[in-house]
Amino acid sequence: MKNNSEDRITPPELYFGRRKFMQAAIAAGSIVATAGTYRLFNPTSTPMAESAPLQNLGSTELSDAERLQRGFLVDEERTDERSILTYNNFYEFTTNKERVAAAAMNFQTDEWTLEVGGLVQQPKSFSLAELQAISPLEERVYRMRCVEAWSMVIPWNGFPLSRLLEIVQPTSEARYLAFETLFDPQRMPGQKTDVLDWPYVEGLRLDEAMHPLSILAMGIYGKQLPPQDGAPVRLVVPWKYGFKGIKSIVKMTLTSMEPPTSWNRFAPNEYGFYANVNPTVAHPRWSQATEQRIGESGRRKTLLFNGYEEQVASLYNGMDLRVHF
Ligand code: MTE
Repeated sequence: MKNNSEDRITPPELYFGRRKFMQAAIAAGSIVATAGTYRLFNPTSTPMAESAPLQNLGSTELSDAERLQRGFLVDEERTDERSILTYNNFYEFTTNKERVAAAAMNFQTDEWTLEVGGLVQQPKSFSLAELQAISPLEERVYRMRCVEAWSMVIPWNGFPLSRLLEIVQPTSEARYLAFETLFDPQRMPGQKTDVLDWPYVEGLRLDEAMHPLSILAMGIYGKQLPPQDGAPVRLVVPWKYGFKGIKSIVKMTLTSMEPPTSWNRFAPNEYGFYANVNPTVAHPRWSQATEQRIGESGRRKTLLFNGYEEQVASLYNGMDLRVHF
């Protein structure tokens, strides 16, 4: 990392962490501009748990040139590990980005199960060992663009979501995939607050979920996913805003109807179901044209579909991206 003391954008809802504040402010149309609120970020001071190395790392058959072409690798500097592990959004623990790692430090995931059901021929509850056995974990180096206009480049270790869906076999009626985070306010104390409706929920259209870029991640930088980044398993869809990447998933359900999503429920005029990164569609309270890459000075231009246009644009042929934002 070139510089440890970068200015970071912090939207007011994160600053105040109060759902009622937000809803009242939205109703009154009185939120101050996001870009006006800055604070200092010092990644070296955050306490956190040490993650173990991953056992089942796979090597990919693809050359780097092929990985680049498919979007599995980006030719940009990786964000340093410490920043990825100490600057987080995970409201189940705290709304303060720099305190998530410490607040989530003792989160236990040993007996985890991921239940997959709904419109499938083979519903199944996966243990962690079964999840890891689905496929060797391959490295995917993806851009990550948060809706708040900061970004990182993260080397994930994971496997294509399509591999899991092939096991449960969606029926012909299935059109969407709904995701749910663990609900356990004892272990996730942020769930004792009403900052969001719990559990956190997300969703994808089935063709988005089947896309080769959509992965379930179980590691970062070759080590087990730490609690603050969504242990033991989280979604990564690199062409969408970061909030689609639901963490600590316990349930996935195939449905015929578009499922509700947490941020859309919270403020439907601000956060759509699709949430595709799009520099030409501004958030009602700030521009999405540029972003702050963590570790860089100055801003860079935000790319359509976060730079994955070649791979994913065809999913949205004929759709008005301003309506389906
Ligand atoms: N998943 C859950 N369950 N709870 C959350 O608060 N925050 C989202 C997403 N997934 C969130 C979540 C948001 S807003 C972002 S930007 C990314 O996680 C942040 O991921 P990171 O902390 O690993 O960078």
